Amino acid sequence: MQSRVALVTGAGRRVGRAIALDLAAHGWAVAVHHHASAPGASEVVAQIRDGGGTAAAFAADLTDPAALEALIPRVMAWSGRVDALVCSAAGMTRSPIGSTTAATVDGILSLNLRAPFLLAQSAAAHLAEGGAILLIGDHMADECWPDYAMHGVAKAGVHALTRHLAAALAPRLRVNAVAPGAVLLPDDGAPQLAERLAAQAALRRIGTPSDVAGAVRYLLDAPFVTGQVLRVDGGRGLDA
Ligand SMILES: NC(=O)c1ccc[n+]([C@@H]2O[C@H](COP(=O)([O-])OP(=O)(O)OC[C@H]3O[C@@H](n4cnc5c(N)ncnc54)[C@H](OP(=O)(O)O)[C@@H]3O)[C@@H](O)[C@H]2O)c1
Repeated sequence: MQSRVALVTGAGRRVGRAIALDLAAHGWAVAVHHHASAPGASEVVAQIRDGGGTAAAFAADLTDPAALEALIPRVMAWSGRVDALVCSAAGMTRSPIGSTTAATVDGILSLNLRAPFLLAQSAAAHLAEGGAILLIGDHMADECWPDYAMHGVAKAGVHALTRHLAAALAPRLRVNAVAPGAVLLPDDGAPQLAERLAAQAALRRIGTPSDVAGAVRYLLDAPFVTGQVLRVDGGRGLDA
């Protein structure tokens, strides 16, 4: 394949979808990973191909270590090369301290932290020289949201993982993360939530998926940047 190839996890909907479409619009061939969102992933692939780009969909449950290990080799079999791994898939599960079970903790960590780690490990073995890994963190890694404690802990782990991977994989590969603020609320989110989150940002708005996608694309193309967690959050907490 002539174009650079990016694997984007969780690309069948929402933020991952925006990242996949943005990369394709800027010349990348895109492996569109999904789990439950097969129809969404097919739409993303069709949209990229309709625009003259190259894409294919790849299903995998990222809580399954065997599926994780197989994913990048499956993409390689399609494209012959992988230049970038973008780990956007995650879940935001409630985990109040008083009522969270061991199974809930394991579920949160396996999707939000173990999966990026194992995918990055696989990427280290398969990515082309000069390639890049991009993890998606979260502003909640640096804040206290008691009802989502383990989500924040997992995302803080993603931020730490970014630095550890960057040190371990340099100079062959670069590793960075984008930590979004609120960019896309849950589909059932109350309108007041958007207003409250907008008020907490110095720029007085919530973000958009394309704000995240632009930062991802910048970091994939920034040859002298590694080990960084770039907050794309409208200045949350600057004027608190
Ligand atoms: N939205 C925000 O405002 C915001 C703020 C801060 C950080 N972030 C981060 O940005 C990223 C994208 O956010 P989002 O709001 O688009 O996330 P989301 O709506 O929660 O989407 C979750 C994605 O993860 C995938 N996924 C869930 N369980 C999976 C599994 N077992 N195996 C494989 N894939 C699985 C889903 O794929 P399927 O649908 O195909 O199952 C979906 O594409 C996440 O890392 C999130 O933590 C988002």
